[in-house]
Amino acid sequence: MFKVLAKDGNAKRGEFTTVHGKIQTPVFMNVGTAAAIKGAVAAEDLKTIKTQVELSNTYHLHVRPGDKVVKKLGGLHKFMNWDRPILTDSGGFQVFSLAGLRKIKEEGVYFNSHVDGRKIFMGPEESMQIQSNLASTIAMAFDECPSSVASRQYIENSVARTTRWLERCKKEMNRLNGLEDTINKNQLLFGINQGGIYDDIRVEQAKAIADMDLDGYAVGGLAVGESHEEMYRIIEKVEPHLPKDKPIYLMGVGTPANILEAVERGVDFFDCVYPSRNGRHGHVYTNAGKLNLFNAKYETDSRPIEEGCECPACKYHSRAYIRHLLKAKEMLGMRLCVLHNLYFYNTMMEEIRDAIEAGNYAEYKAKKLEGFKENDK
Ligand code: GUN
Ligand code: ZN
Repeated sequence: MFKVLAKDGNAKRGEFTTVHGKIQTPVFMNVGTAAAIKGAVAAEDLKTIKTQVELSNTYHLHVRPGDKVVKKLGGLHKFMNWDRPILTDSGGFQVFSLAGLRKIKEEGVYFNSHVDGRKIFMGPEESMQIQSNLASTIAMAFDECPSSVASRQYIENSVARTTRWLERCKKEMNRLNGLEDTINKNQLLFGINQGGIYDDIRVEQAKAIADMDLDGYAVGGLAVGESHEEMYRIIEKVEPHLPKDKPIYLMGVGTPANILEAVERGVDFFDCVYPSRNGRHGHVYTNAGKLNLFNAKYETDSRPIEEGCECPACKYHSRAYIRHLLKAKEMLGMRLCVLHNLYFYNTMMEEIRDAIEAGNYAEYKAKKLEGFKENDK
């Protein structure tokens, strides 16, 4: 299912085959939490900006409109009119970052909905059932992402429970994929490595889940307050213990520089809200670093965000016009910035794949990072 087509150092150029088509890796998945990329971007726009995988959230769609509603409408692909791969995050992370008061037990998590406060229970089985109703291409295991300030003792207990939850996830997914009325009977399951900043806990858990023959392996619990150096070190420690023939997904990461560093360390899948969130605030990515279009110096700047960029914003509009839209709070301003940013990320991934194939990844990476510095001054 995952074929490594080329290697350059630890960086991999791969192809991941799913029932919704092949994913060329390394890949950046575009985040549409509630079945929409924030910033008024529709599924049909995603094809224009080279999106390969859309990512939605189990927790959000369970709360609203409800996964049973989505199932009635034929699953997430039909619901949002996107026929390419979709990855759903399991709800674990969102429950811990969004929901109010919550209680973690062996069976799962009791919490209150962030929409209407109603009491909800979600455990590994519930998360798998919801993701099966959504019929995503790839489902994520239900995990706990412990706080970055949690004690070693807490993390040890939490990781052991996350591993037990993973076994339950696998069993439940096998059951669901065998049911007559399941929409996607080929749904894939990725497990998640946790362990905070403790290398030994991470490695021990990586070894345990490597034996479970999952379709892919995620490294979670990062970009939650630790330094970039700690994050890179953890990837280096964990990667050798994960199966060589399965993709590695670094969850919630990150900046273009983070992605360049992680690819070099063997990561294949990424997702992050940065391009869409920054776009909504008028912060746009270029090969010369990030620009803030609210800055007065763009008031009469007739150039596109990035010279030569083929995105719908740069092809037709100037920095000055987009700045005006943002200042006038016209929705189009946000939309154009989000489209540009996602196109920038997706294009960078294409360049990364080309560089690995050409065997000049280190050179490509160094040049790219040098360029980003220009607007950090
Ligand atoms: N998104 C970012 N980090 C995490 C994580 O640790 N777990 C899950 N499920 N999703 C994430
Ligand atoms: Zn552009």
